[in-house]
Amino acid sequence: MKNIPVVMIIFGGSGDLAHRKLYPALFNLYEQGLIHDNFAVIGTARRPWSHEYLREQVSDAVHETHDTVDENDLKEFASHFYYQSHDVTNVEHYETLKKLAQDLDDRYFARGNRLFYMAMAPRFFGTIATHINDQHLTGSGFNRIVVEKPFGHDLASAEKLNKEITASFDEDDIFRIDHYLGKEMVQNIMPMRFTNPLIKNIWSGDYIKNIQVTLAERLGVEARGGYYDTSGALRDMVQNHIFQIITLLAMPEPKDLDSASVHQAKQDLLASMIIPTPEDVKKDFVRGKYLGSDTTFAYKQEPNVDPNSNTETFVAGKVKFAKGPVAGVPIYFRTGKELREKKNRIDIVLKHINNLYGQAHSNNITIEIDPESKIYITINGKRIDQPGIRRENLTYAFSKAEMAKVPDGYERLLHDVFVNDSTNFTHWSELKRYWEFIDAIEDAWQKENEVGKPKVVQYLPYRMGPKEANNIFESLTEHWIYE
Ligand code: BG6
Repeated sequence: MKNIPVVMIIFGGSGDLAHRKLYPALFNLYEQGLIHDNFAVIGTARRPWSHEYLREQVSDAVHETHDTVDENDLKEFASHFYYQSHDVTNVEHYETLKKLAQDLDDRYFARGNRLFYMAMAPRFFGTIATHINDQHLTGSGFNRIVVEKPFGHDLASAEKLNKEITASFDEDDIFRIDHYLGKEMVQNIMPMRFTNPLIKNIWSGDYIKNIQVTLAERLGVEARGGYYDTSGALRDMVQNHIFQIITLLAMPEPKDLDSASVHQAKQDLLASMIIPTPEDVKKDFVRGKYLGSDTTFAYKQEPNVDPNSNTETFVAGKVKFAKGPVAGVPIYFRTGKELREKKNRIDIVLKHINNLYGQAHSNNITIEIDPESKIYITINGKRIDQPGIRRENLTYAFSKAEMAKVPDGYERLLHDVFVNDSTNFTHWSELKRYWEFIDAIEDAWQKENEVGKPKVVQYLPYRMGPKEANNIFESLTEHWIYE
């Protein structure tokens, strides 16, 4: 792997994301030689840390995520980290940052390459992007920016933020990160769809009855009540992760595997996404919030949550496309907090065929994303012991040893940023369509709230969410495959 020269500036260097995800991922990339002698990382935040203190934090973060570590390597790696106390709203602070970046560039021969990483509260993204531009923080080599989610709160704020960022960066240099696109099984959707005649040939409304995407979480909102109450499940999970998965499932085959071609295929699909009307929202979408139990809080009792909040911790709904291989096929999704177990999975439900045996089930193709990683197809065959048909799974799975080698999503995506591969990042035109869809739902819900009729149903914790989510199907013969 090549040694990429770069000065990376992390806004939010003292934060949780940097600690849990970025520092361990950077260490792994360092161990692989992708970044090595010619890199420096500047961590910035408001706290008055020293370089030494940041380096200790980086070492701790690596130890916390690795069973074994080469201590000499870690020491050398950590020595490339520098801390700069920085108030993102203070223009003068960018001057200091610029100087430090330039000094480190000279010292490490980073060739004017800069990577900016927005890992702090999203309300500052626009301010930072603006000052990177007006204070000339960009270097003379490549200039890339990684933007964490949420990218805006609705279409209008996303457009504003995009404008602020595109003032200094070209679309090709903006990496809007969605960590689901770094997950092994999400990256497996395209190879699965496009290399198997068995699957590729049935990928149409002639054979597929519906598609179901479930992203279930066992955890509640935990310490993130303040953020979550302004977001809700729709913005937090559907606007990004669920939509990206649906896009990969429904898009036409790209002409090749180049980033531009993959994004083109996604955009061709999204242009035909049907935006729900307020009537559709009433019948096809369900929002819920979790109740408490003997040992857990109800959502409205969680710290920093408005006790009268109408924010949803569960949402189920439907998406359809007018074009593409699965045009007209209903794609149902649901996601929620405090559900029975952590389970991210996709079920592709095939249409039933009349058959001589009468009792045979249709086939389903299931992709399990988390916590397990496998694909299986339910298949019918003859029973051994008595007449009749039995159903078994044909499974494509990985061994534990193989799975242990799978890099974390952040490591994969950071690698892609360094090598300038934006295939697994969200393009602005995709994001824009996602927001158009989400805004339509949020607007309809907002109107219900305004007339005092919010239809947020309550659900018991650690089950599969509100029973109303069973009523969004188009026909009585459809139901959630994962129950
Ligand atoms: C994040 C959401 O984007 O994804 C969180 O903000 C959610 O609320 C998380 O818990 C889920 O990610 P994963 O990888 O654990 O399924």
